[in-house]
Amino acid sequence: MSALEGKKVLVGVTGGIAAYKAPELVRRLRDAGSQVRVVMTAGAEAFITPLTLQAVSGHRVRQHLLDPEAEAGMGHIELARWADEILVAPATAHAIARFAAGLADDLLGTLLLATEARVWLAPAMNRVMWAAPSVRDNCALLESRGVRILGPGSGSQACGEQGQGRMLEPEELVAALAGGGPLAGRRFVVTAGPTHEPLDPVRFIGNRSSGRMGFALAAALAEAGAEVDLVAGPVHLSTPPGVRRHDVQTALAMREAVMGRIGGADGFVGVAAVADYRPAKAAGDKIKKSEASMAVELVPNPDILAEVAALDDRPGLVVGFAAETRDLENAARGKLRAKKLDLIAANRVGDGLGFDAEDNALEVFGADAHWTLSPKPKTALARELVAIISEGLLDEGKPSR
Ligand code: CTP
Repeated sequence: MSALEGKKVLVGVTGGIAAYKAPELVRRLRDAGSQVRVVMTAGAEAFITPLTLQAVSGHRVRQHLLDPEAEAGMGHIELARWADEILVAPATAHAIARFAAGLADDLLGTLLLATEARVWLAPAMNRVMWAAPSVRDNCALLESRGVRILGPGSGSQACGEQGQGRMLEPEELVAALAGGGPLAGRRFVVTAGPTHEPLDPVRFIGNRSSGRMGFALAAALAEAGAEVDLVAGPVHLSTPPGVRRHDVQTALAMREAVMGRIGGADGFVGVAAVADYRPAKAAGDKIKKSEASMAVELVPNPDILAEVAALDDRPGLVVGFAAETRDLENAARGKLRAKKLDLIAANRVGDGLGFDAEDNALEVFGADAHWTLSPKPKTALARELVAIISEGLLDEGKPSR
């Protein structure tokens, strides 16, 4: 039976081009067994007709706050109480700003204030708008109040650009509402990619990590129902659906982003290839080739993984990665103990595996456990690792250390 069976879902449609996906969303929610009512904002009507949504939902679509006929039936307060879940899809930048400000001058805004239901937003907008500081702040504020933000995904946009801002597909939204998954209700922080340590305004010390393993892991955790904060170094990858991404450049910025989000997290997975050292100082101006030779003084970076594992209120499960060229098991077990980890996933680098490769293979070690994950694409490997992680969390908290 679907987790949405019998659930009362109110779908709020606001005025973005992704409103054309709303009928499909309503149909899929009904297929999953939920009862659906639809509320449209004035802007939504520019993109889709109420009649279409009435046909697919099987109920009159509500558009106005002060509609005597509608209020004579299920008034707006009753409608707010009726809902188990409210999903605003698409949620435009304007709608998000209105909800953050608590404006109640239309039906949807009023319902969001008057409800105790869970509220979900599926943002859809141009990628630059999604990155705009006001939109970031409004989303952060809404999330801090318990609103769940689904996506947006990346890809080609209606405006012809490529980037993050696409509304998640109806089936992804339905899956998110249905929750389920072994990690539903759990939150993970994941690091991925390399770090770039600046030498001067145009040069840095970095490494060949593509970020693919970390992104695949974040995607697999989200697929398993977890809420995921992905702290990503400089990579060319799109954000997996349902994952909150925070881009950073340096190890210090990565540490700050992780520490700002680790409180209350159930798990931490350090997949990033964090630079162990950074230049003692980055030159303010571009370094000129005036000398016959030059030396760069390096100072150690903080070990983010070890710092997380040493926190008083550390997450229930702390997982590290290790890339080794030889003596894999000893090196990995050494790091497991030294950094006080619950699990470590080690891979041999070289021979088309590991760094910057499509495929990978992992040896996973816990204090008294060992799993061998044979070579396969990183996405498949990530799912296997998430199965081990879920077991670790469900098994009374954590594997023994
Ligand atoms: N890590 C981290 N912060 C650092 C360095 C590493 O969080 N400053 C994390 C990585 O994300 C990974 C694990 O620690 O999960 C890697 O361990 P580490 O001992 O640093 O690996 P290497 O750098 O490969 O170590 P070594 O060079 O000693 O083999």
